[in-house]
Amino acid sequence: MAFDIDMIKSVYSKVAERVDAAREITGKPLTLAEKILYSHLWDGKTDKAFVRGKDYVDFAPDRIACQDATAQMALLQFMQAGKKEVAVPTTVHCDHLIQAKQGAQKDLKRANETSNEVFDFLESVSNKYGIGFWKPGAGIIHQVVLENYAFPGGMMIGTDSHTVNAGGLGMVAIGVGGADAVDVMAGMPWELKFPKLIGVKLTGELNGWTASKDVILKVAGILTVKGGTGAIVEYFGPGAKNLSATGKGTICNMGAEIGATTSTFGYDESMERFLRATDRADVADAANEIKEYLTGDDEVYANPEQYFDEVIEINLSELRPHLNGPFTPDLATPVGELGEKAAKNDWPIKVDWGLIGSCTNSSYEDLSRAASIAQQAIDKKLKPKSDFGINPGSEQIRYTAERDGLLEVFENLGATIFTNACGPCIGQWDRSDRKGEEKNTIVHSFNRNFSKRADGNPNTHAFVGSPEMVAAIAISGRLDFDPLNDTLINEDGEEVKLDVPVGLELPTKGFAVEENGYLAPTEDGSKVEVKVATDSERLQLLTPFVPIKDSELKEVKLLIKAFGKCTTDHISMAGPWLRYRGHLDNISNNCLIGAVNAYNKKTNFVKSQLTGEYGGVPDTQREYKAKGIKTIVVGDHNYGEGSSREHAAMEPRHLGVAAVLVKSFARIHETNLKKQGMLGLTFANENDYDLIQEDDTFSFLDIEEFAPDKPLTIEVTHADGSKDTIKANHTYNDAQIAWYREGSALNLIKKQNA
Ligand code: F3S
Repeated sequence: MAFDIDMIKSVYSKVAERVDAAREITGKPLTLAEKILYSHLWDGKTDKAFVRGKDYVDFAPDRIACQDATAQMALLQFMQAGKKEVAVPTTVHCDHLIQAKQGAQKDLKRANETSNEVFDFLESVSNKYGIGFWKPGAGIIHQVVLENYAFPGGMMIGTDSHTVNAGGLGMVAIGVGGADAVDVMAGMPWELKFPKLIGVKLTGELNGWTASKDVILKVAGILTVKGGTGAIVEYFGPGAKNLSATGKGTICNMGAEIGATTSTFGYDESMERFLRATDRADVADAANEIKEYLTGDDEVYANPEQYFDEVIEINLSELRPHLNGPFTPDLATPVGELGEKAAKNDWPIKVDWGLIGSCTNSSYEDLSRAASIAQQAIDKKLKPKSDFGINPGSEQIRYTAERDGLLEVFENLGATIFTNACGPCIGQWDRSDRKGEEKNTIVHSFNRNFSKRADGNPNTHAFVGSPEMVAAIAISGRLDFDPLNDTLINEDGEEVKLDVPVGLELPTKGFAVEENGYLAPTEDGSKVEVKVATDSERLQLLTPFVPIKDSELKEVKLLIKAFGKCTTDHISMAGPWLRYRGHLDNISNNCLIGAVNAYNKKTNFVKSQLTGEYGGVPDTQREYKAKGIKTIVVGDHNYGEGSSREHAAMEPRHLGVAAVLVKSFARIHETNLKKQGMLGLTFANENDYDLIQEDDTFSFLDIEEFAPDKPLTIEVTHADGSKDTIKANHTYNDAQIAWYREGSALNLIKKQNA
């Protein structure tokens, strides 16, 4: 199935001119990341050399991908833009809302029952607005994207942090919040701070038990979970060419675990093979025509220290297989050294589960290498000591793996084949063997292993490894098992050793699938009705936010003065609240419930100036809203850090908060507040934070003159009648002030479209 070849050809037609111009303007050879960035500038004008880590730049991504959990609010917002269809090719993938329990068939049926209203909504809204829809069971977003949409030299954004997986096919693919995706769907540019560049030179060749996964497990150990922040990691060198495209995808996927903006590889023969195997010979042919533009310049790779901000070198021939964890993916330990470490740290040695799959490691190659180990267990009469669970990455992989007998091998070992979906990787796992919070160990080929991630149990010690290593460890049932050196005792009491894994990069008979689960949108969506039940507790159509009138900013009440850290998690908690992420009013009941009240150091306990009583933040705010009284939230430094979750701005806006005044903002949250038509302000003198008292009332004295670079003046009236006049800075430009005046950025877009 070939998608979008016209769009890809159009992108490729501009690459040479833009990259040549970028080389000229920067006066140096270019990395691949720079080539992709400079060839995707929003205005198409390559007339400025950007400063890495400093300049904010507008880009024009080629594609958007959304998963079912984040797509709900993103698409509800997009509906507000008044567009007939999305401006950029977009797909929605139903993969996060399917719980793993009894195996694919039953689990999928149950998910279709419990989340049918969400799936129906996503399907109908996709159909209406020209969005490709991948049904529940069709596969995990990033594998499906790799198999169908990713293309060398492209730029993609996605509402999931592992969107970066598409770097395996030479893209710059970046995970974003829903608000950013909505902007691009609505035809607006996407802004990103021009990233720094980390080069990883790979030499040598993988051998024996070492897999692509071990490259990123090693890199994570070197760079740690923060080491890639604000940077694109570019892999190159002879070792890179020896890796399969899906192996490259694995490495890029876990770039999210080192905080990297994204990771990528230059176009090479492995990518060409993958494109042809996945029915995209036309894309491969088009890429071949401009291939020197789809990789970094030779001079860059010959002298990487001169052109990257940081360079790491890894010799694949010497790389040892790793298991990283527990509780963090950067705690890297070579297999064979885990016994000692586990004993020292009191990690349970017995392994309960070996889980293979997720968007990180569920390719045909992954399954075939792991199956080769599983087959040995059968041949050598080894009974696995741990349970096995498998999540194939897509229906295409599942179907092909079934046809080729790979799944049968796992089933012969008693494995449960879960749905082609995220399952345990996102905590959608009804784990039958343990219900309490007992200490236990699991190994998996996923990417994240934070506390509670897989099964909700804070005492589950999860270790991350390659699929083949997970298979070996699960067979042995021991965390300290080293298949390179250790032997096992089989059912006949004999000592046996596992041979090195073997696998196929691509299926020899080619990929096959009967029903891939894709639904193309109808040509004309104007008659399609978006399905949202009026009594739904999970979904609610949005109504446009009403602009805040200047007159409403005269007697504004303090809702909460937040003390210390106030992240997007404090503002809009996750966990069970995620169920309501498509229902703004219901999820608003978590608004600021994690923020610490500066006056009593309690959470979700603030004074109502209407009654003098203390109560929860959302309830108190709803009382103000009912009386038509606007409120203000005061905060400390870096307010809104954490994720790009748009709910953290939409909830206070929905409940009637007019302004957020803080010592400093996390930039994305500040922008999100602006997009929702609120005031995001900072104290001109941060000591004024201390002036704010519990019963204060605020009057914005010069809001009528709201203009770029002009601080606002706020009169603060205290309970005893005394007053302080303070200055509030802001970073609104003219366009953002227009968002504020219209009530939201989407209101403005809608008006412009009318
Ligand atoms: Fe799903 Fe886990 Fe990937 S949640 S998208 S499989 S990181």
